[in-house]
Amino acid sequence: MSNLSVLILAAGEGTRMKSAAPKVLHLAAGKPLLAHVLDAVSALKGAASGVVLGRSADEVKARFAGRPLNYFFQKERRGSGHAVRTARTWLARRKGDVIVLCGDAPLVKPGTLKTLVSLHRRERNAATLLTARVPDPSGYGRIVRGSDGRPAAIVEHKDADPAQLALDEINSGTYVFRVSDLLKALDRVRPNNAKGEYYLTDVIGLLALDGKSLGALRVEGLEECLGVNTRAELAAAEKILRRREADRLMADGVTIVDPDAVYVDAGVRVGPDTVLWPQTYLLGDTRVGAGCQIGPFSWIKDSRVSDGVRVTASFVEGSAVGFEAGVGPFARLRSGARLGARVRVGNFVEIKKSVLAPGVKAGHLAYLGDARIGADVNIGAGVITCNYDGVSKHPTTIGAGAFIGSNVNLVAPVAVGRGAVVGAGSTVTEDVPAGSLALERSRQILKPGWALKKRRRDAGTPGRRDEGKDRKDNRKDKRKGKN
Ligand code: UD1
Ligand code: CA
Repeated sequence: MSNLSVLILAAGEGTRMKSAAPKVLHLAAGKPLLAHVLDAVSALKGAASGVVLGRSADEVKARFAGRPLNYFFQKERRGSGHAVRTARTWLARRKGDVIVLCGDAPLVKPGTLKTLVSLHRRERNAATLLTARVPDPSGYGRIVRGSDGRPAAIVEHKDADPAQLALDEINSGTYVFRVSDLLKALDRVRPNNAKGEYYLTDVIGLLALDGKSLGALRVEGLEECLGVNTRAELAAAEKILRRREADRLMADGVTIVDPDAVYVDAGVRVGPDTVLWPQTYLLGDTRVGAGCQIGPFSWIKDSRVSDGVRVTASFVEGSAVGFEAGVGPFARLRSGARLGARVRVGNFVEIKKSVLAPGVKAGHLAYLGDARIGADVNIGAGVITCNYDGVSKHPTTIGAGAFIGSNVNLVAPVAVGRGAVVGAGSTVTEDVPAGSLALERSRQILKPGWALKKRRRDAGTPGRRDEGKDRKDNRKDKRKGKN
């Protein structure tokens, strides 16, 4: 949109959060509050954006490095009007309108912002407010309307009289101003209110007194206007954002068995006909293909999951899972696990930084780290790559079609050639050439009938089991000086 600037107020200290971290960096649906606001305004293409920051400016700037933002520093927190004033020089050079938003209101939708700006321009207003009618307006500024039905003033909760407190239309903290009118009115704002602050909201009353045209876009319900001042409000915002993500996926053809029991971060993509079972988490930069069964009880972060995959009760992070592969129940894929098509990883298998070519099976109780495993290899139960010698990590290579028997230790660096077989229980310390058998275990001793004889012997000597006890009693008696 041309001749439109964006100013986000984010210098508030967020005292009510009782947090060491700046409020606007608290996460909702995996994204900082401020990022939600920035992403919503990015729909107003071409608008130059400024952010007013306070004490934690450096931390916030570092988090948003790389975004083309103008920062303004509000040294003393003297109110939202004072915050806008810190951007005065920048604003004075901006033509047209500025949309002002709060960094702690992450739920405003891009479409609503566009509608707000359009309304503002159509009505040629000096200011246009985003307001909401809510059942419980407490804490918010109330919209006082004049006899013409237009906004005439905003009264903060703390400054409101009983009649004003009863008003159920609230100020969302999102407004569009004609820049020139905003700056003129801002200079006249005085801190004569309950908090002793320079309120941005006072600009509305001043513009109304000047006879300027004021408008409002009123939405029903708090959803888009919720401001996060407390942890409880953060949880409320989180719930709404997660529900929106679930709705987005369902609209794209994903089945979600219970939308209140899946947790999908903003921006995660899932293909059609995938089913998400309860207690499934899809987080960060994650993409899941079509026709998958994910969950129940699965946690997938920063990963790529191909089509037709089944993940059951497993943890997957920083990994890639190939076409029609199966993971779990109770598997853990850590950073850099790459599973090819139709790989099976089963119960209590942990995989780190390893490439498993198509068709590999690791069904039970294994650890595979820093390994390259060829196609169709069978990894028996209890196989361990001993990849760490206490100082550094070493690689294990297993050629296609090899068979690694149960309870094998592969002491890295080590290579098992194509089609080789490693017998169960072996500790492999030397490379195994392709096509050969490696067996490292002591020969079995066999004594025919021994067990049977022993059992008979034990059964045939009554009181034998008490013998030991008798001896112990004797010893005790000796110590006590009896006998
Ligand atoms: C503010 C509005 C209120 C509205 C509500 C919506 C004012 C006076 N009141 O109240 O009408 O209903 O938001 O959520 O604006 N800020 C600064 N510097 C400051 C003070 C505040 O940058 O010195 C920023 C905050 O970071 C926040 C915004 O301004 O993003 C609003 O401040 P906050 O203290 O949260 O005001 P509320 O009491 O929520
Ligand atoms: Ca607030």
